[in-house]
Amino acid sequence: MLRNVKILGIESSCDETAAAVVEDGHKLLSNVVLSSIDQHKAYGGVVPEIAARSHIEAINPVIRQALADAGCNWGDIDAMAVTYGPGLGGSLFVGVMAAKTLALLHKKPLHKVNHVEAHIYAAFITSTSLPGYSLPEEKPEFPLLGLIVSGGHTQLVLFKAYDDYKILGQTTDDAVGEAYDKVAKILGYPYPGGPSVEKLAKSGNSGKYRLPKARTEGKYDFSYSGLKTAVLRTAQEAIGEDHNFPSHLLAEKLTKEQKADIAASFSRTAIEALVDKAAAAYEEFRPGSVVIAGGVSASPELRKQMAGRLPVEAHFPDIKLCTDNGAMIATAGYYQAKTGKPVDPYLLDIKPNLSM
Ligand code: KG4
Ligand code: ZN
Repeated sequence: MLRNVKILGIESSCDETAAAVVEDGHKLLSNVVLSSIDQHKAYGGVVPEIAARSHIEAINPVIRQALADAGCNWGDIDAMAVTYGPGLGGSLFVGVMAAKTLALLHKKPLHKVNHVEAHIYAAFITSTSLPGYSLPEEKPEFPLLGLIVSGGHTQLVLFKAYDDYKILGQTTDDAVGEAYDKVAKILGYPYPGGPSVEKLAKSGNSGKYRLPKARTEGKYDFSYSGLKTAVLRTAQEAIGEDHNFPSHLLAEKLTKEQKADIAASFSRTAIEALVDKAAAAYEEFRPGSVVIAGGVSASPELRKQMAGRLPVEAHFPDIKLCTDNGAMIATAGYYQAKTGKPVDPYLLDIKPNLSM
């Protein structure tokens, strides 16, 4: 088998312009992520037009930096991989156009990658000489139970092999990260809300407010819209107002202690739902490993609860590889290159609504 295969991965599905070089599907040579998040904060969420404009400005410098950090020039790159969906159309378009153009210009095979699937591959990165990463020594084993928890997705997936998987369940409404972001907004914190809610939750009492865990028809499905509404009602009641009280005025009325207790009660309940289903799926399928990936996998509450409920240690990517990055795209591209053919750059198009 070929060794020292270097793949350049490009990611631009949401607000991060990212590129990375990964060798042999596990060694991280560079990982450059530029987020436009500060430009969206004033609007309470990602503004697609702002994200797209920022990708246009950032894409070339980010790719150049990823090559430089890896000590590579174009001649050292064996193949490229790019996110073609799901995501924001304008954002995806910039990354895909850049990848197509560069693949044609430098005559590199190009692989198209599904962003949601790729989150799992972040857990396959096991070595680097870059500073500041804490990586697992072993890569996960198949069959693999994957829990993908991000701002757009909440899915439990059973992978028999790299290219052979079955979705066991998914959210029927909001994604868990979206619920974090909405609760953060109620409590007066900007997007992305996950980290602020978890920070607040640390000083709160998670037993203070009783919040409902959703019942779903599918055994492994999830639902978060009811929990989000329950948080809104709880906040209104906590300040002695009725359910007509506007949500954007809640943050200034709630005390610091009330906010912390709401954050802690929400986080415990939101995470419990994930852990309940992952533990049940583990019992039923007895996979060789469990991988938790996507932005919400950075949650300390998720890591704590999962450790208490699973009989094996789950694989969590390094925090820097939990949120969107090019390394997971390059790694997914590496495994794809083993089993599939590259795409014709002239025919590759974006798929904003792509599912797994
Ligand atoms: O995977 P990701 O970077 O982008 C998507 O593909 O959606 O995930 C972003 C999501 C946001 O909803 C953010 O609030 C959430 O991940 N998140 C967290 C934490 N860090 C990011 N949620 C809970 N705890 C965290 N520490
Ligand atoms: Zn993502």
